[in-house]
Amino acid sequence: MQLFQGMLFDSPTIETDRLILRPLRMRDDRDMFSYARDPEVSRHVLWEAHRTIRDTRRFLRAAIRQYRKGFPGSFAIEWKASGRMIGTVGFMWIHAEYKSAEVGYSLSRDYWNRGVMTEALRAVVAYGFDTLHLNRIEAQYECDNPASGRVMEHIGMRYEGTLRQRLWNKGKFVDVKLCAILRDDPRP
Ligand SMILES: CC(C)(COP(=O)(O)OP(=O)(O)OC[C@H]1O[C@@H](n2cnc3c(N)ncnc32)[C@H](O)[C@@H]1OP(=O)(O)O)[C@@H](O)C(=O)NCCC(=O)NCCS
Repeated sequence: MQLFQGMLFDSPTIETDRLILRPLRMRDDRDMFSYARDPEVSRHVLWEAHRTIRDTRRFLRAAIRQYRKGFPGSFAIEWKASGRMIGTVGFMWIHAEYKSAEVGYSLSRDYWNRGVMTEALRAVVAYGFDTLHLNRIEAQYECDNPASGRVMEHIGMRYEGTLRQRLWNKGKFVDVKLCAILRDDPRP
């Protein structure tokens, strides 16, 4: 893990056409709460919809603590045009020895189906290969969340298999599809 010490705490910022990807900060609380309270957003991720802004602050504090420990984490997705924080994308874990990692993401419903996560994930995957020198980046999505599968497909991840009842989420076991991209794979 030493290889990635301070990765996000050192504040890398990635700019894309419409987005700025940067570390989360406590003052993202209102923007994050406005979408993290939506059960449609939390339906296919492992956190519960935030009930009050205190849940959001707890979430942000935990994320910032992870940066300080040097663990990988999520970038805030900022919509350039408004400066609003509209989602997160980043590394769930990074295995330094195997040079592999898993990515995860979530986005405010107001921005769905506009290519936002495709744009964000493409940039994070490029950062993983070009800056962190990873060899493999994987992601998994619940079988009944095909929009997430489309995002992975768009950026060049390949489907590798279905993991039956891999997760326990919102009161039930769920099947997930595993996708991955290697550094030498084409990146569309
Ligand atoms: C999944 C999610 C990140 C997608 O983000 P997004 O910015 O809307 O994604 P994009 O616009 O880049 O791409 C979405 C694609 O899915 C497609 N799509 C949307 N709903 C779909 C559905 N019900 N079935 C099949 N495809 C669907 C869109 O048409 C688009 O594909 P296209 O560009 O080929 O037309 C977003 O919906 C989200 O945050 N959901 C809640 C959290 C979540 O599920 N996180 C992922 C956990 S694995």
